[in-house]
Amino acid sequence: MPAPARRYRPETELVHAGSMRSPFGETSEALFLTQGFVYESAEQCEARFKGEEPGFLYSRFSNPTVAMFERRMAAFEGAEAARATATGMAAVTTALVGQLRAGDHVVAAKALFGSCRWVVEDFLPRFGVASTLVDGTDLDQWQKAVRPNTKTFFLESPTNPVLEIIDIAAVAKIAHAAGATLVVDNVFATPLWQSPLALGADVVVYSATKHIDGQGRCLGGIILASEKFVQDNIHQLIRQTGPSMSPFNAWVLLKGLETLHLRVRRQTETATAVAAALAGHPKITRLIYPGRPDHPQADIVRRQMSGGSTLVAFEVAGGKRGTFRFLNALKLIRITNNLGDAKSLVTHPATTTHQRLTPEARAELGITDGTVRFSAGLEHPDDVAADLQTALEQA
Ligand SMILES: Cc1ncc(COP(=O)(O)O)c(C=O)c1O
Repeated sequence: MPAPARRYRPETELVHAGSMRSPFGETSEALFLTQGFVYESAEQCEARFKGEEPGFLYSRFSNPTVAMFERRMAAFEGAEAARATATGMAAVTTALVGQLRAGDHVVAAKALFGSCRWVVEDFLPRFGVASTLVDGTDLDQWQKAVRPNTKTFFLESPTNPVLEIIDIAAVAKIAHAAGATLVVDNVFATPLWQSPLALGADVVVYSATKHIDGQGRCLGGIILASEKFVQDNIHQLIRQTGPSMSPFNAWVLLKGLETLHLRVRRQTETATAVAAALAGHPKITRLIYPGRPDHPQADIVRRQMSGGSTLVAFEVAGGKRGTFRFLNALKLIRITNNLGDAKSLVTHPATTTHQRLTPEARAELGITDGTVRFSAGLEHPDDVAADLQTALEQA
């Protein structure tokens, strides 16, 4: 079913786009908790399976609640088509595997979420797909990594966890000149602050687990691209192998989308306030926030993002010991490996999301034993900043 074109302002689309009302006329989107569907006749069943009559067939690949989530995301992102998946990692893996064949080559930025890097570095080579990892901020490295068999480029921006910015439009140009596609993991930017398709990317993927749910309840993922890309590379893979989103999760995520802009705006304001409160603090040796003019790629932020970030990265003095003392002294903000929640959260990447990497590989990415990633929640910004400042006295 093609996604509807964007008709209203983004906030309105987040509340209404993609809705399909049942004959009962419900206000809130219905949760179609069904595995399959029944047909009026054997002829109708045959026509549905032949694609001669539109309609739903089986919830592994077609379900009305999941379709509403896909259509709403597609309208908001300005994509022709979308397919929802069980998790963000299912979206990343499906978006890559769907277009790759044995003998192909992938170029990816080194600064990827740990599991994404495992897929590129360890998993794809098992099936004869080679990969080259580059410093995503260095356009020369993308260009030099291109081989005749390069099929796709893959990056996330801002990067996890130190919030580096990669020039999406410039990388898309290099990819297209090489006859390759560009896949962008837009989780850290959120669909509110960055539109990779408008910047030239071919595919956008999200972990809907993060800001799209935004309330810590369920996992999900989504792939957004042209109708042709989805038909050629994604639809059959999901239909036949089943990394599918459950209707229940799609319903939760639809409700999440209704408040996405309010939450992300507030979280961004809080992250901005936290960055201002911590900048120059004697226990903070480095602070990175995409909304600040002192961000190393502030000019690219201005060009490609319409807002800052809900995340702040900083380095605590005193190495792992000092950093753990700080983390353990936090009273309101909780230690976790997740982000994008209503609750403010902190992560110590060196011992969690990036612990699989060697200390040298972490150093290359700017991750030290003192690096902390802060994810702003929906609490009062003053309470959040005060918790961080009080705990820093223990570092
Ligand atoms: C940037 C990024 N991409 C992908 C994922 C994977 O998402 P999920 O946990 O929903 O599988 C995450 C999760 O932390 C992430 O941070």
